[in-house]
Amino acid sequence: MLMDRKALIGDLLAQTREGYSLPQAFYASPDVFAADMDAIVSRKWLIAGHVSQIPGKGDYFLFKVGGEQILIVRENADTVRAFYNVCRHRGSTLCSAESGNARVLVCPYHAWSFSLDGSLLSARLMPEDFDKAEHSLHKCHVRVFHGLIFVNLSEAEPEDFDATFAELDPILDYHGFAGAKVVHVGRYPTAANWKLVVENFLECYHCVPAHPEFCSMHPPEALLAVGAGPSSGPQEAVEKYAPVLEAWEARAEAMGRPIYSIDDGPESTHLRAMIQRSIRDGFLTETQDGQPASSLMGKRSDWDLGRMHVSFSPFSHIVADSDFAMLFRFTPRGPMQTDVDVIWLVDGAAQDYDVGKMTWGWHTTTMQDKQITEDNQTGILSSRYQPGRYSTQERALVTFQNWYLRHLKHG
Ligand code: FES
Ligand SMILES: [Fe+2]
Repeated sequence: MLMDRKALIGDLLAQTREGYSLPQAFYASPDVFAADMDAIVSRKWLIAGHVSQIPGKGDYFLFKVGGEQILIVRENADTVRAFYNVCRHRGSTLCSAESGNARVLVCPYHAWSFSLDGSLLSARLMPEDFDKAEHSLHKCHVRVFHGLIFVNLSEAEPEDFDATFAELDPILDYHGFAGAKVVHVGRYPTAANWKLVVENFLECYHCVPAHPEFCSMHPPEALLAVGAGPSSGPQEAVEKYAPVLEAWEARAEAMGRPIYSIDDGPESTHLRAMIQRSIRDGFLTETQDGQPASSLMGKRSDWDLGRMHVSFSPFSHIVADSDFAMLFRFTPRGPMQTDVDVIWLVDGAAQDYDVGKMTWGWHTTTMQDKQITEDNQTGILSSRYQPGRYSTQERALVTFQNWYLRHLKHG
């Protein structure tokens, strides 16, 4: 970190106060954004997408993070590769399309060509001492886990993947993510700092005022008790919901659903969380009328009337019902620009599914979240903004903030 940036971050850290939102600069300053990228975003395992988006040899898509572009490529049936989208000649981007298919990656500038494993195949008219073997594409760490494609932009050895995520094996297996397929991608680019996007996603204090459609799909007692951790809502609401939850857990477990939860604290590497909740009485799934939008996902033999929310990190989340799931990607692009993408998945064997029906709830909710988050950003830019006090339904934000500040301080 540059010395003056380090001093600036040190000053800003000293101004933070637990239980309050962050000072303005954390949500607006290019220096803080650069520090966030170095200390956090570039070091975490981020979900770029799902293997069903690149089923055939040579299929690729671009994943843009900060100023980087990562090319995710299917090399063959068994292998997915990730490269920086940067030609080894004079640095042009190799692929400009968001997705496509190529048997050989040919640079549009001077036609250097690279194989799907990243090695340089041909470069015309190069001097005799030019060594092709030294000009492979720069690799990005990549790991496929239950069909989910994770990348990590660390220059050094990244944080241990299995130590962080193996605990999610049983629940991801139950939902059948390895064999799932993407049926819709929604893009909601949001003119706000990534932390505002994450904070908005982690609290449900705003659910009742801002999300009537979302609320209509949930039992009211669960709504209040909800937070990003298993019991991060107000204590009274958590206690009121407990008997409903316990009855549901017993029933769902008897049907084969793994019942457990994960609730990482500020000391964790990725701030994982996994919560499972009952859905509204009379609903089979979270659609407008509670009726299915697809066939059962994964290992289910019947409707278990539950939902799961898993946070792999603040940047990657999945919400899953019995018949479909949403993968949320929150990707920092600039100090006040975040890519918000929602990717809808169904069981790989599903034939008869209704995309409009399954996207209704979270498309509507994400459009509302885009608006309220952008309004939050605009207000924070005012000279009169001061960090505001969190409610008892925003306890997950204190955890997130402590996790974030710890990384920034030690990064
Ligand atoms: S920059 Fe790619 S071939 Fe020249
Ligand atoms: Fe929201």
